[in-house]
Amino acid sequence: MEVVQVLCMKGGNGDTSYAQNSLLQKKVISLTKPITDEAISNLFCNNFPARLCIADLGCSSGPNTLFAVLEFVTTVDKVHKKMGHELPEIQVFLNDLPGNDFNTIFKSLPTFQKDLQKTMGAGAESCFVTGVPGSFYGRLFLGKSLHFVHSSYSLQWLSQVPRGLESNKGNIYMASSSPPSVLKAYYEQFQTDFSMFLRCRSEELLEGGSMVLTFLGRISEDPSSKECCYIWELLAVALNDMVAEGLVEEEKMDSFNIPQYTPSPAEVKCEVEKEGSFTINRLEASEVNWNAYHEEVFSRYQKIVADRMSREKTEFVNVTVSMTKRG
Ligand SMILES: C[S@@+](CC[C@H](N)C(=O)[O-])C[C@H]1O[C@@H](n2cnc3c(N)ncnc32)[C@H](O)[C@@H]1O
Repeated sequence: MEVVQVLCMKGGNGDTSYAQNSLLQKKVISLTKPITDEAISNLFCNNFPARLCIADLGCSSGPNTLFAVLEFVTTVDKVHKKMGHELPEIQVFLNDLPGNDFNTIFKSLPTFQKDLQKTMGAGAESCFVTGVPGSFYGRLFLGKSLHFVHSSYSLQWLSQVPRGLESNKGNIYMASSSPPSVLKAYYEQFQTDFSMFLRCRSEELLEGGSMVLTFLGRISEDPSSKECCYIWELLAVALNDMVAEGLVEEEKMDSFNIPQYTPSPAEVKCEVEKEGSFTINRLEASEVNWNAYHEEVFSRYQKIVADRMSREKTEFVNVTVSMTKRG
């Protein structure tokens, strides 16, 4: 089954929905806001377009989706007020895979419009929000139509589970015990996917347009380093225990691998430079503390994670890159 057909965060607003379990991701959006603000402000160095097109890729559904949009629009508003310019019409495209719960986002739009009105007054009516279902590993928008692209905690998802992971037995991701061929297969899939992403966006962004992308990543150059793989190694401990107790089939455990890659800043830089359409303005790593997780298989996982969190420093690493399309 294709990842793009099955991958989605849990929709709705229930206890186990993404909406109720994405505080950590919200923290990351806030943490990287100065970089986003700077990139948006730099769009208006030379001119003030009458229409502005912004896209958030991998927007999911829940409070973070419109929280991010509110931040973009208020930044645009502030810059324009400061420079004495009229606010442009703003088209915001919210993209995610077709299985995403777009309906929940659309239902919260009236509240969002009210919030926007409170923050910026009459200008709020010039902001238009549209859903765009599809994979960001393909074209999503008209050529040369976007001014700014944002994506947070989405690009670590690969387009598919890498091929050639048969020897990754007992693991569900890259791990310290994974053979080198497994690490290579994951890296090559990341290179293929991210270069495709850059190619598509370079066609869609206007000259001088920019992107701020934040990946769940790592600082170390070791792709099986604890800082990115430990969380999945702990989940594998829970699943292996369940295999030993006959609750999960060993074959299923051995054939299950997570379609993610958590790149280092150097790996991100390498792909951007290879593709050649963008100039990197900033490339930074930051850290956020792990958060709690829930759900059936996670009750064991929760105990293991809680135990480790009480004894060790457990943080996720974020890699953020801000870049401008070359002329
Ligand atoms: C962890 S959520 C992040 C959501 C939101 N940006 C946030 O910060 O809370 C990752 C999102 O990326 C989406 N995603 C993964 N692969 C994608 C792809 N190829 N194209 C579009 N969206 C994708 C997932 O469906 C999911 O909603």
